[in-house]
Amino acid sequence: EKGNYRHFMAKEIAEQPDVVGHTLAHHLDMAKGRARIPEGIDFKKLDRIAFSACGTAYYAGLVARYWFEKLARIPVDIDIASEFRYREPPLKPGGLAILISQSGETADTLATLRHCKEQGMQIASVVNVTSSTIARESDAILPTLGGPEIGVASTKAFTCQLATLAALAVAAGKARGVLSDDDEQRLVASLVELPRLMAETLKLEPQIERIAKDLAKAQDALYLGRGTSFPIAMEGALKLKEISYIHAEGYAAGELKHGPIALVDEKMPVVVLAPYDTLFEKTVSNMQEVAARGGKVLLVTDPDGAKEAAGEFETLIVPKSYAFVTPMIYAIPMQLLAYHTAVFMGTDVDQPRNLAKSVTVE
Ligand code: M6R
Repeated sequence: EKGNYRHFMAKEIAEQPDVVGHTLAHHLDMAKGRARIPEGIDFKKLDRIAFSACGTAYYAGLVARYWFEKLARIPVDIDIASEFRYREPPLKPGGLAILISQSGETADTLATLRHCKEQGMQIASVVNVTSSTIARESDAILPTLGGPEIGVASTKAFTCQLATLAALAVAAGKARGVLSDDDEQRLVASLVELPRLMAETLKLEPQIERIAKDLAKAQDALYLGRGTSFPIAMEGALKLKEISYIHAEGYAAGELKHGPIALVDEKMPVVVLAPYDTLFEKTVSNMQEVAARGGKVLLVTDPDGAKEAAGEFETLIVPKSYAFVTPMIYAIPMQLLAYHTAVFMGTDVDQPRNLAKSVTVE
């Protein structure tokens, strides 16, 4: 039930610190500061991993690619399930395919699973519904403990997918000898702290509600990010499209000059996700390019980033965290921004037009 919330989506956004905490407790040994290795997966033997999923779950996979490549030094292929199936990529028998799906019933993701299985691959799935077809047909199940997600726009399932994949990337890094015991402890500690930081982030809601009032007047919006913030920018744009019907696009900030900047004028809001890290300066120069053309920047950053940008742009300040866990934190303002924009516009937030919770046809 919705309880005191106006929509399931609002409730599901608010539940995230709890359900991400439960999900992490399942995949980590918090007392020992270790990530659990799923039975049957030998990361040492693998020379690459193929990820596939649709929609928001695909964006979780895009974030995971950064983690697995950096922390476990394992090459990752990732493709949208509807493309993967027909692309005929050469697949290695004995290789690992990881499918990501909240419902576990998405037709394209299931077909990809079966295709990979026919090619002799080992199948692991990150699923929220553990009684689903995708879960049943997998060799290893990595559950997200999000509980039922009713809102058609995925929120808590996404951050639980990220939490699961983050824990798995640490386990892979350790198994492959890339991460030391200390590295593992440090990364696990940053995950243990995450639910508290997510709860902090939710407190931005009143400020986001005010910003959403303006965003509701826009016809289009751009979302920019670098590194793991790039898939989160795409997820932010997808959320806005799905429930407010405002056209939005997520771009790698470095691509701005290669096309989308042509769209920027006084009417164009540009949401920039920029934790204060080694890429921050580059992103600031992208924001200045937007501002110089009259575009309205909304900077989402941490206290250090806000200090550095020195009040040049409208800023949402999320808590400071390790770079590793920023995707789960920055996802929250993206969800809240889309939610409040949709509420202002009076759309059917939980049941947006033309969309189904689970897409069981191609
Ligand atoms: O159930 P799945 O995770 O396989 O669903 C995949 C997509 O259909 C889903 O994420 C969709 O993009 C959502 N509406 C996103 O909010």
